[in-house]
Amino acid sequence: MRVFQSPHELKKELRGLHVSIGFVPTMGALHNGHISLIKKAKEENEIVVVSIFVNPTQFLKGEDLDKYPRKEQADKRICELAGVDYLFYPNAEDIYEKDEVKLCAPDVRGYILEGETRPGHFSGVLTVVMKLLNIVNPTNAYFGKKDAQQLMLISLMVKQMFMDVNIVPVETMRDNLGLALSSRNEYLNAEEKVEALKIPSALKKATSLVVSGVYETKTIIDEMKMILEPLDVSYIAIVSREFIPIATIQTGNSMILVEAVVGNTRLLDNIWL
Ligand code: PAJ
Repeated sequence: MRVFQSPHELKKELRGLHVSIGFVPTMGALHNGHISLIKKAKEENEIVVVSIFVNPTQFLKGEDLDKYPRKEQADKRICELAGVDYLFYPNAEDIYEKDEVKLCAPDVRGYILEGETRPGHFSGVLTVVMKLLNIVNPTNAYFGKKDAQQLMLISLMVKQMFMDVNIVPVETMRDNLGLALSSRNEYLNAEEKVEALKIPSALKKATSLVVSGVYETKTIIDEMKMILEPLDVSYIAIVSREFIPIATIQTGNSMILVEAVVGNTRLLDNIWL
């Protein structure tokens, strides 16, 4: 595995290869969710590039930028073992200049749900993903369905900016108790980990309601609220794949999204129905 810090050097190296490139952008503290993206990228491309960059512009003031887990040595080892060909590991100064052109998230779909609790977050995500895609110029780029709104906005950006990359959604990986894997799970203590399981339980309940023929979203949300109690729930939303709120479940075109704060940790999860 070769490690690059310089965007220009990596770009030059990759441009000379003339092979299919699978790209997995991450913020590190790699877990099995990230590894499943890397595996899929390996299956579908001749070479795999992973980036590890804790992107400052997607953290709001007062968020966890400084304490976000950084595990350089362990992450490098994981990438090596997973068969990554190129690891891009830049510093903030390699990616950002002082006075910058910025991409803005769309007003409607970028400022609801996660975008409402974290205004400006998605503009930072889109800006860095645009930069990373321009550096790597991949054939396919892999993103987790766990961050469904991020995935939708990146797909929109790629389409609207006429970019030449195929965005590949990847299923959410969970631990053996059902909790969606996340680098932020490391912040949870043992008690909070148990509390956090209310999130997948509520989503499971929603699925079983739909399977038993309950399609009215209000009923489903009320049932989920009871299970999530007493967590600090930021939102429960039932939307179409276009992120338009819906009154009844449309199988094949619905998502249920939850954001809840456990202790001080914001956790996201969702199911696609
Ligand atoms: P990060 O949280 O490190 O996640 C990197 C990728 O892994 C994202 O596409 C995310 O959706 C995916 N992922 C995280 N947990 C997952 C899980 N349990 N199962 C499957 N996939 C999972 O998301 C980011 O970083 C950043 O916003 C980034 C896109 C890199 C831009 O800075």
